[in-house]
Amino acid sequence: MTTDATPGIDPAPNPHATEEQVKAALTDTKLAQVLYHDWEAETYDEKWSISFDERCIDYARGRFDAVATDDSSLPYGRAMELGCGTGFFLLNLMQSGVAEKGSVTDLSPGMVKVALRNAENLGLDVDGRVADAEKIPYDDNTFDLVVGHAVLHHIPDVEQALREVLRVLKPGGRFIFAGEPSTIGDFYARWMSRATWFATTNITKFGPLQGWRRPQEELDESSRAAALEAVVDIHTFDPDELAGIARAAGANKVETATEELAAAMLGWPVRTFEAAVPPEKLGWGWARFAFGGWKRLTWLDENVLRKVVPPKFFYNVVVTGTKP
Ligand SMILES: C[S@@+](CC[C@H](N)C(=O)[O-])C[C@H]1O[C@@H](n2cnc3c(N)ncnc32)[C@H](O)[C@@H]1O
Repeated sequence: MTTDATPGIDPAPNPHATEEQVKAALTDTKLAQVLYHDWEAETYDEKWSISFDERCIDYARGRFDAVATDDSSLPYGRAMELGCGTGFFLLNLMQSGVAEKGSVTDLSPGMVKVALRNAENLGLDVDGRVADAEKIPYDDNTFDLVVGHAVLHHIPDVEQALREVLRVLKPGGRFIFAGEPSTIGDFYARWMSRATWFATTNITKFGPLQGWRRPQEELDESSRAAALEAVVDIHTFDPDELAGIARAAGANKVETATEELAAAMLGWPVRTFEAAVPPEKLGWGWARFAFGGWKRLTWLDENVLRKVVPPKFFYNVVVTGTKP
């Protein structure tokens, strides 16, 4: 594994933001991104049940195949991920044979550090840089494939970011962004999450359920992070509007797909509950319930609900396009 990042030039992670920094970040969305995601980086995989085994390889590949079935370019030579987080999407796609060499990039130095560590543990050929998606620090025509997962909704100027993606792609190269919240999906997911957080943190104040309450300082830190979350989540997308933004940026062959309706209605409360109680309270039984339930509801989404519910009601939007 190598890194393009020049020591001393890429900034260092800052996992413990002070109250003053959080205050400043409330009016500075990019500072909020860095503080929030640096704070999350070391515990992110655990929080979101991210792994680099068959379960997440299949999940990542499923998101890719949603808009790129029978892609004759596989495996791509050099791929780059924007807003890589801990590397969930690109590293698992590489393990599934989508690309041979990878570059992970993120605005948060803490995330790039964890993504590079995960890549090294997996023995993948990956380098990394701290990078703002609106100004990508790579030359024109560098990559065969650019991917992202749950990142576009954090970027103030999405069209500018997609122009940058097209600039660094080689002619004919493809981009795929998955896991973007649809406008309707985000509405119901947020309300379900808020209700779950409220119920769990209040019920666990009383009687024998107090053993299920996280220490107050952890709940306070989560609340500070939640304040930043409201600043970092900038957009939701109507699938047709997102396709329009990609075309306006100059992309060819733009397509979108949407995924997860019933599965998202289970997934958001489950994740919120997991964040609200001490992790040691939830064992394998819970993990089996959460993953098994999500799989069954995904089946229901794909085989039943997809036929009767309009695409914009599904939670996740995937968009792809190519460089002319
Ligand atoms: C919700 S996380 C998703 C991480 C990862 N892709 C995943 O799916 O697990 C969004 C990531 O986008 C990054 N991000 C936010 N704004 C960005 C920007 N302007 N440029 C690059 N990365 C950005 C954040 O630091 C964060 O790591």
